[in-house]
Amino acid sequence: MSASETALQILSGTFAPQFHTNLRSNFSSICCIKSRKDRHDGNYIQNRVTRNLDGLFKGEKKNSRSESLRCKCSQPENNREAFLEDGSGRLVNGLANEFNFQNVELGQPLKNENGTLLSNDGLTAPTSNIFGANSIEDEAWTLLRASMVYYCGNPVGTIAANDSSNSNTLNYDQVFIRDFIPSGIAFLLKGDYEIVRNFILHTLQLQSWEKTMDCHSPGQGLMPASFKVRTVPLDGDEDATEEVLDPDFGEAAIGRVAPVDSGLWWIILLRAYGKCSGDTSVQERIDVQTGIKMILKLCLADGFDMFPTLLVTDGSCMIDRRMGIHGHPLEIQALFYSALLCAREMLTPEEASADLFRALNNRLVAMSFHIREYYWIDTKKLNEIYRYKTEEYSFDAVNKFNIYPDQIPPWLVEWMPHRGGYLIGNLQPAHMDFRFFSLGNLWAIISSLATTDQSHAILDFIEAKWSDLVGGMPLKICYPALEGEEWRIITGSDPKNTPWSYHNGGSWPTLLWQLTVACIKMKRPEIAEKAIKVAERRIATDKWPEYYDTKGARFIGKQARLFQTWSIAGYLVAKLLIDNPNAANMLVNVEDAELVNAFSYARTANPRRKRLRKGPKQSFII
Ligand code: GLC
Repeated sequence: MSASETALQILSGTFAPQFHTNLRSNFSSICCIKSRKDRHDGNYIQNRVTRNLDGLFKGEKKNSRSESLRCKCSQPENNREAFLEDGSGRLVNGLANEFNFQNVELGQPLKNENGTLLSNDGLTAPTSNIFGANSIEDEAWTLLRASMVYYCGNPVGTIAANDSSNSNTLNYDQVFIRDFIPSGIAFLLKGDYEIVRNFILHTLQLQSWEKTMDCHSPGQGLMPASFKVRTVPLDGDEDATEEVLDPDFGEAAIGRVAPVDSGLWWIILLRAYGKCSGDTSVQERIDVQTGIKMILKLCLADGFDMFPTLLVTDGSCMIDRRMGIHGHPLEIQALFYSALLCAREMLTPEEASADLFRALNNRLVAMSFHIREYYWIDTKKLNEIYRYKTEEYSFDAVNKFNIYPDQIPPWLVEWMPHRGGYLIGNLQPAHMDFRFFSLGNLWAIISSLATTDQSHAILDFIEAKWSDLVGGMPLKICYPALEGEEWRIITGSDPKNTPWSYHNGGSWPTLLWQLTVACIKMKRPEIAEKAIKVAERRIATDKWPEYYDTKGARFIGKQARLFQTWSIAGYLVAKLLIDNPNAANMLVNVEDAELVNAFSYARTANPRRKRLRKGPKQSFII
């Protein structure tokens, strides 16, 4: 197929992802070129045209997805002094001890007193006492700006951590999609839209990257887990270098985990960008619409699954290591549900077929029914499970998934308060993962995947279990930790995920922003305010760690990075939203009346009769 035929398909909305590899291989890599001689003043002298159409960042609505594969990188005057390289090809604004933090302006690159830009090399990030009277928030803003990554002189993201005390960088010098979300929201809340727009459009380019692992290619809608800006020598020209965006789709990640959450977060951020900036031209672009549809196509694809929830492997989200969350983990389901609602709002009728809207609606109804009914536990439900009959072969089975009551863990019987409840971590045939996972529960509130009553009950639960879930630092990623033989078998004896550390019961300050959005949505901001106060006691003096260890979050995590960007941004978003609660609407999905009707129909329908008779008039299929 020729490029023009492909473009025609894109235009007509019949573009099929399998052609994308062909399309991509016709083009060379995304890059900006600069002369080596001119590297030090950051003056790009040449712009290699790698895609056939112009103006990606000029805001025009374009005709083809292929045009998004070219970046505007020729802005020598604007970009002069925009950044320095750190020697590894990474372009970040670094920090220096002698830096005058008082003089930082929003969105400006960091400079020392002589006005020279700062490099990240070998420099120590500041501690809070350097800031003197400056508030924790000022420090956080300075650090957040210092984490900005530039590509062709334009800000495109924030690095995961800016911790010069740790020589083992691993991939913490990359821009992670999930980690950028709180950064992006913080920038949006400050009215700094450019970085978010660039991030959205550049990661969209990466979506169509040729990706393989041992000769196997995952679906074309997959978004990378992270990317890095590299400066590489230009073939055939010894004086020139080029910048390239180098994505990791999991093919280099520890454990080769697929970042299922990336595309879902991308859709959620895209909607937030439009709502906050008022600029809907980005979501209306045909390449962006195609990007949304490619993600949906991947998520809505038929498989062998009996459940409406998304089936994924272990480690496919924030918990990106083996932690026994393969199957249908709550976090992915809540993000999926939210992304479906956001996509439905943004897809233009010209771009999305009636079939796609129908598929979206059907999945939304089926998912909300499934999660609300089968993932929910509180004392009453626990007692029901305790008395379950098993081996029921019938359409009317009460214990549909054949859960053996002995699975109820002894800790839960003691732990479950009389008031409150939560959505369990995972549901599979004959298996309920009763652990409490914070992000999934919070995003279930935010996305209205949980009912209003359930949402309040989850917050009641967090309040009732404050010392376990918040303790010395909000918020525990999951509760309880896997210990002993369970830890050995389920994590594969993972030394990073030892009990009450990291993903296994560690406490992650970044979760503060999601807690805040959920509390604001339920008009209970005082819970978030209390958690923010707990964080403020130590987060800055502890140098913004990635996570905390021990049951009560007493220690900075064993292998935690310091100056972890999403800890910084998460705190800022929480503070900004408490001051301006209405802004949380850009992240919240309000429950849809049609879905509520379909849901109550599904609840009252007898499963056997439902197979025979017609559904409600909206034609939702459950
Ligand atoms: C760890 C976390 C992951 C995060 C990454 C970068 O791998 O598990 O969620 O995206 O670090 O901060």
